[in-house]
This record gives sequence, C-alpha cells and structure tokens, in this order.
Amino acid sequence: MICAKISKALNEQMNREFFNSRLYLSMATYFHSINLEGAAHWMELQAQEETGHAMRLYKQLLERGARVTVEAIPAPSQEWGSPLAAFQDAYKHECTVSKQFDALVALARAEKDNATEIFLQWFVTEQVEEEASTDAVVQRLRLAEKAKGGALFMIDRMLGERGK
Ligand code: FEO
Repeated sequence: MICAKISKALNEQMNREFFNSRLYLSMATYFHSINLEGAAHWMELQAQEETGHAMRLYKQLLERGARVTVEAIPAPSQEWGSPLAAFQDAYKHECTVSKQFDALVALARAEKDNATEIFLQWFVTEQVEEEASTDAVVQRLRLAEKAKGGALFMIDRMLGERGK
C-alpha cells in the first residue's frame, strides 16, 4: 500500500504521460499534413511509448493497492511553425518531464517509500534517452535549415527508419 501523497502524485504523472502520448500523436498529424511521413512515423512510435509509460504507472498503482484515477486530458497543440519548432517543443517538453520525475523521486525519498523510489529509477534513466533522442533530431534539423537542398528529406527518411 502506498500513502495518499504518493498515490496522488503517481496518478497525476500517469495522466501527464497520457497527455504526452496525445501531444506526440498530434505532432504526427502535423508531420503528415506537411508530407513528412518519416517524422510522422517517429512521432507515432513516440506516442505509443508514452502510452507505455502511462500504463507502467497504472500497473504500479494497482500493484501497490492504490485507486487509479483516469482524468480528462487537455488538448495538445495542433500546429507548429516548422519541423524544427515541433522537435524543439518535444525536446523542451521532455526536459519538463525529467523535472517531474526528479520531483517524484524527491517525494518518494521524503516519504521514505523505497519501493516507489526504485520504481521511479526506470523513468529517470528513460528520460536521459528521451531528452537525447529529441535533441539529436533538433540538432540535425538546425543543420538542415542552414543547408540547401534535400537535407530535410534525408532526415525525414532517417526518422522513418525508427524501429521502436
Ligand atoms: Fe514519458 Fe517522454 O516522457
């Protein structure tokens, strides 16, 4: 059983992860709308991953005997000014998510909830990868903006090769 504070905080994070999934799905539709199918594919997989994060929290809450509360999810943005702007947004968003997990770890420590602290370590590690993968695309898109020609389409093809 977990305490009410931890239960509330993990529930909030689960709902945020469902939002993250919707945000990336919305970015996927933006990329489809500008015919960048590779970037759309990348974002669709990212959306699936985020649902996986939410479900990981969902299962943990159930396992610890907590009540899960599925909340309404705010609508994400639907348009971005450019592919770079969308990925910059994704990177910034992942930095925010990392801070959310840092705060959750701090709470688990304050509540002396070792099981929750250990559970959260997976997310802390995952966030390092999430920040790195979005930032890598931002850096490439920045270069593509400077270069002329087909650089954007090469990046799009590369993003389309994402396997998981
Ligand atoms: Fe689940 Fe990308 O944060």
